[in-house]
Amino acid sequence: MKAITREVHGYQSWDKTTGAISQPIYQTATFRHPGFRQSTGYDYSRSSNPTRESLEKSLALLEEGERCWAFSSGMAAIGAVLKLFQPGDHVLLSEDLYGGTVRLCNCVYSRYGITFEYIDTSDIRLVSQHLRPNTRGIYVETPSNPMMMVSDIQALSQLAHTSGARLIVDNTFLSPHFQKPLTLGADLVVHSGTKYLGGHNDIIAGFVIAAAGNKGEADRVALELIYKSEGASLGPFDSWLMLRSLKTLGLRVERQAANALKIAQWLKKQPFVTDIYYVGLPEHPSYALSQKQATGFGSMISFKVTSAALAQKSLSRLQLICFAESLGGVESLLTYPIAQTHQETPPELLARVGLDDRLLRLSVGIEDAEDLIADLEQALS
Ligand SMILES: Cc1ncc(COP(=O)(O)O)c(C=O)c1O
Repeated sequence: MKAITREVHGYQSWDKTTGAISQPIYQTATFRHPGFRQSTGYDYSRSSNPTRESLEKSLALLEEGERCWAFSSGMAAIGAVLKLFQPGDHVLLSEDLYGGTVRLCNCVYSRYGITFEYIDTSDIRLVSQHLRPNTRGIYVETPSNPMMMVSDIQALSQLAHTSGARLIVDNTFLSPHFQKPLTLGADLVVHSGTKYLGGHNDIIAGFVIAAAGNKGEADRVALELIYKSEGASLGPFDSWLMLRSLKTLGLRVERQAANALKIAQWLKKQPFVTDIYYVGLPEHPSYALSQKQATGFGSMISFKVTSAALAQKSLSRLQLICFAESLGGVESLLTYPIAQTHQETPPELLARVGLDDRLLRLSVGIEDAEDLIADLEQALS
């Protein structure tokens, strides 16, 4: 079955009890038991809820994983995965990552005796040189936020598995429509569901999807325990909104990617642009790898303009595109990473990847590409 068909129908195309085409919203905290030691299969919505279960099964299907857990945010999902590590463990991470992930590792989980080391995970040799006997995880965003660095998922998974580590991939930027890390050997996928999966800038959500097979059994059991114990589960209404969003995932992201390519090709010719980072341009250093491991390039473009003053001025000149954090929705958003998403990232890490005050990050929506280009032109010229 083709991806787009799977996205429309999900795990179940209709409600098995009523035939409703739209899944019911089970807006309930608890479930009545018929008697002692009898259950409908549902007890309490923190642990499981039929609407959320339908969503989780649908996303597990799209990512080709065994099990999915839906969280109340992307950060809650990432936090659950970080709880798999023990004091004394070492984790290698991409040096270019969403700032909130770096903050969670450095300011929260490092207090529990876990060591986090940031390196260029697009360089496999460098990754192998930095593995330690206690390395238990390799964590990558690919493409990364916001510098669009691409890591080789298959090569990293082989390296991780020969070293007794798990490979975790944040698949937010491409979504399962374009990239399925579990099929390339990753052990766990995380998502900010707030982005392309939700797609309308109206839900905060997160997901963890675990690979099938015996190897990951211990992690799946641990995640099950963490999920029901910590209670950061997605509510029934947001689960339903997300189920509705998944039906149009392919339509949205294909259109967004087509728009992004047009805009990137236009941006690279503009005198006010000094550098452009879009994995769909043949001059991107990982263009070939992107073609190999993904079926599309997505719609995230970062670019540097001639001065910080111009970058800052453009934000209030925008008329159509919104100056806002977040990404992946049908509405185009422009973000100023140094003052927003990466405000708290250590300056040393920012300098290593070249994230400075001339960098803007554009999340391309589904509007008409010519209208978006006209807005960028009037804001940046
Ligand atoms: C790549 C990436 N991962 C994770 C997150 C965190 O997700 P959330 O904002 O849903 O908690 C973000 C948020 O911007 C992100 O860009």
